[in-house]
Amino acid sequence: MEVVIVPDAKAGGELIAGAMAELLRHKPTALLGVATGSTPLPIYQALAAQVSSGAVEVSRARIAQLDEYVGLPAEHPESYRSVLRREVLEPLGIGMDAFMGPDGTAEDVRGACEAYDRALAEAGGVDLQLLGIGTDGHIGFNEPCSSLASRTRIKTLTEQTRIDNARFFDGDIGQVPHHVITQGIGTILEARHLVLLATGEGKADAVAATVEGPVAAVCPASALQLHPHATVVVDEGAASKLKFADYFRHTFANKPDWQGI
Ligand code: F6R
Repeated sequence: MEVVIVPDAKAGGELIAGAMAELLRHKPTALLGVATGSTPLPIYQALAAQVSSGAVEVSRARIAQLDEYVGLPAEHPESYRSVLRREVLEPLGIGMDAFMGPDGTAEDVRGACEAYDRALAEAGGVDLQLLGIGTDGHIGFNEPCSSLASRTRIKTLTEQTRIDNARFFDGDIGQVPHHVITQGIGTILEARHLVLLATGEGKADAVAATVEGPVAAVCPASALQLHPHATVVVDEGAASKLKFADYFRHTFANKPDWQGI
């Protein structure tokens, strides 16, 4: 996997938005897998700026959701569908007809999970999947000890993840759902390019385990080591526990310009 250490979150957002723009120039109908949470916001802002400036055209791009709360109505402001509409689709000018995600309100949750996995495959697969990382190493909401071969399914959030996400629910953990539908690790690994962004010292342990630890279900993000094209972009805080940080800096500084991430 490639590790890129950037000065700050804004630089990380610009680097990743640049890679998305490059993909869209080659494949205007690309299926972009998007994550929610605080970390990817600089990516979405940088991509929206590129669209406004005319540097890239997204009218034919398609967007796929990574995960969704179970039981929150789609129109709830914190359902991930609503969040993505607000933070990604509207700023980019992409309509809901180009959006796909699992149905977190389905009575048949298992059927909804299987249907979403099928829909992703029928859409030709995700071209570039953005990922954040939990303080416990989760990607999507594959919490520690998730099967590395897992498919889209229902998961129970850890208390730590619910505490972390309470900030989106007026600080009230009681409002944070216990369950989510998440793309499985096996599903995520089928995307053609995985790009994980992590910022802040609070993510440093999880990043070190992901990049330099063994591939192990206890750190779900370590599954990225199995992917032929995975890029981990970290700011100085999130990189602060990497033993190979100097090597990663040296490698990126000496990359041929044409190579991209
Ligand atoms: C959200 C998701 C999660 C978050 C992770 C980090 O769609 O898949 O894995 O990426 O919980 O969240 P933030 O970025 O808020 O620290």
